[in-house]
This record gives sequence, structure tokens and C-alpha cells, in this order.
Amino acid sequence: MKNLPLLFCGILTALAFSLMGLVLSSYIQLGSLTQTTETLDELGNPIAGETLYPAMMPGAAQQGKAVYTDLGCVTCHTQQVRRAGYGSDVEREWGKRGTVARDYVTQGNVLLGSQRLGPDLMTIGEREDDANRHHLHLYNPKITSEGKSTMPQYSFLYQTRAVEGAVSANALQFDADSDYAPAAGYEVVPTQRAEALVEYLLSLKLNYSLPEAQISE
Ligand code: HEC
Repeated sequence: MKNLPLLFCGILTALAFSLMGLVLSSYIQLGSLTQTTETLDELGNPIAGETLYPAMMPGAAQQGKAVYTDLGCVTCHTQQVRRAGYGSDVEREWGKRGTVARDYVTQGNVLLGSQRLGPDLMTIGEREDDANRHHLHLYNPKITSEGKSTMPQYSFLYQTRAVEGAVSANALQFDADSDYAPAAGYEVVPTQRAEALVEYLLSLKLNYSLPEAQISE
């Protein structure tokens, strides 16, 4: 082999070009995406004075996102709605429209997910807006899914303690005949991590249009 260095240079160049192609083409397509208004003016610019979307996530929800990441919820749940005609997400009412790249531009790390052992959560804050139901489900998924859920329990995010005086304002509210309710004189209260996680779930909404992805009523 006389030209070994040349061969290596060739291989390196081929790899470098293809990598550059991948990085650059994505950057050109998506790198300049920013928040924008739901529709654009005649010149294609955001309309002055209108709200920009996607909105920034509130601080408490940001903390909850860290809990979601820690606990690995992303292994079973996606956060991406396929547009009508590409699967049945819209028919299942997981979103009124498909998601597009711009929906994620305000997020530091994006939790798209790749497996759906459970339902997509992109719009869970719209589908279930009752914080108590979310807490009951996390405390024991069988409570809200009629005894049948395969989702793990996150009961370690809750504390069962004796009621001192009045029942705490944030204690979980079980149905009167629930098999999962704590013994009389006890209450189940969410820890700060559980509160933040539910704030995050409630914040997950896709209730706005974007110029490239309109909600068609
Ligand atoms: C082992 C897989 C698995 C993991 C891990 C998991 N889930 Fe689930 N999840 C499911 C399944 C299956 C369902 C559907 C049954 C049910 O509602 O309990 C579900 C349902 C849900 C629902 C209700 C969705 C709806 O459309 O009503 C929410 C909210 C949810 N999960 C949140 C979470 C959060 C938050 C975490 C992390 C703390 C998590 N899940 C971790 C499997 C999982």
C-alpha cells in the first residue's frame, strides 16, 4: 500500500462532508426558527402586538419537566402528534393538529420520545385539566384507569401521614368508596416534586396555530 495516507485523507474528507451535510442542511432548514404569531402579515412577518407562540413554559412547569426527565417518563410517552393522514393521532384526539419543529423552539431539551407504551402527552394539559386526577393517577395509575393500567406507581412522590387538625388543603381527594384511600385519620399529600410534575403535565398544550400548522376547526 503506497498511498495509505492519501486513502485515510480521502475517507476523512468523505466523512467530514457527509457530516457537514447533515448538520448544515438541518441548520439551514430549522436553525432560524423562532416564536411567531398565529398568522403572518402580507409580507410574511409576525403581526406586531399579537401573542407569540409557542409560549415560554412557566417556572414551576420547568421544574416539573426536570422531574419528568429524572423519572424516565419519556421511555413510555412521546410528545409529538402526527398530522392527519400520517397515523391516527388526530382521530384519537391527541391533538387538533400535528406538531412541527417550531413547537419545540422554546425548550432547552426536547422530550420527543420514541416509544408509545402509554399515550402521547403533547396535549395532556388540555385532555385532563384536573390536578387531583393527575395526582391520583401518579400515586397509583390503577385508581383512574379502572384497575387495568400497566404504568408504574409513583407513590414515592407522595407522603401518607396522620391528619393533624384539619385535612391539608393539598391532600389527594379519593372517591368515597375507593380501595386506595388511606386509612381513616390519614391523608396522602404530594411532595414538592409531585406538585411540580403535575404543573408540567397541566402546561402541555397544543391549543395555538402556527403559520405552517393551522388548527382546522
Ligand atoms: C412503563 C411505561 C410507562 C412509564 C415509565 C410511564 N407511563 Fe404513563 N402511562 C403508561 C400507560 C400504559 C398509560 C395508559 C394507562 C393509564 O392511563 O394508566 C399511561 C398513562 C399516562 C397518563 C394519562 C394519559 C391519558 O391520555 O389519559 C399520564 C398523564 C401519564 N401516563 C404520565 C406519566 C408520567 C408523568 C410518567 C413519569 C413519572 C409516566 N407516565 C411514566 C405507561 C408508562
